[in-house]
Amino acid sequence: MRPDLVLAKGLALLPALLLAACGPSLDEQSAVAEETALAAARATADAFQGELRDALAAAIEAGGAAGAVEACAAIAPALAGNYSEASGASVRRTALRVRNPLSQPDPFERAGLQALAERPMTPAGKPAEFHRIVGGELRYMRALPTAGPCLQCHGPDVAPEVKAAIARLYPEDQATGFREGELRGAISIRWPLHKGAPAAAGKVDSPAPSS
Ligand code: HEC
Repeated sequence: MRPDLVLAKGLALLPALLLAACGPSLDEQSAVAEETALAAARATADAFQGELRDALAAAIEAGGAAGAVEACAAIAPALAGNYSEASGASVRRTALRVRNPLSQPDPFERAGLQALAERPMTPAGKPAEFHRIVGGELRYMRALPTAGPCLQCHGPDVAPEVKAAIARLYPEDQATGFREGELRGAISIRWPLHKGAPAAAGKVDSPAPSS
């Protein structure tokens, strides 16, 4: 055979050889990285949401809704910070109408919130969620629909002392007037791909009067 033909034949075989030598294809590898990151983001959202719910319930029990506004103002951002630090990801809450000006959505989150607002719950009755891979990270969002207890601080009929506590801390508050079932906001997580499983996040000491 002519040497150039031998070379051409060898080159044609090269991709197959490389594939065999390198194990899973790049596509397969990124599918695994995506699955791993998604599972980690979901687990982190579960833990963050659960801990926040417990802290909020304890604060309301200890100081009523007005007292809990102050507690929530301290606990919620601190918890998000703890989960971000422990996981190496970015964990936060955001909304279209915010209470905390630091919760303002970025353009990706704004589009995500608009989509989640159309349908905050799945047909199976779970909070809607979605994820996308953007620039080497997995972006995960989970709807936070307005539930009964949220109305005390986010509803159309907030008690005067709660309103006063909110106005003191958040003079620019936009986060009242929500009805049960309406989207209040979302958990938003940015999880770098090719990163390990989440570490456990530390607890935040509750500043509620009982502690
Ligand atoms: C005791 C009052 C209180 C209750 C009850 C309450 N919140 Fe909030 N919420 C706050 C305060 C205060 C903030 C601002 C703290 C922060 O920076 O996260 C806040 C912020 C948020 C944010 C972050 C976006 C923003 O507007 O800054 C979301 C999302 C949210 N609340 C959802 C809920 C949901 C869902 C419930 C019910 C499960 C709920 N809240 C119940 C007081 C409350």
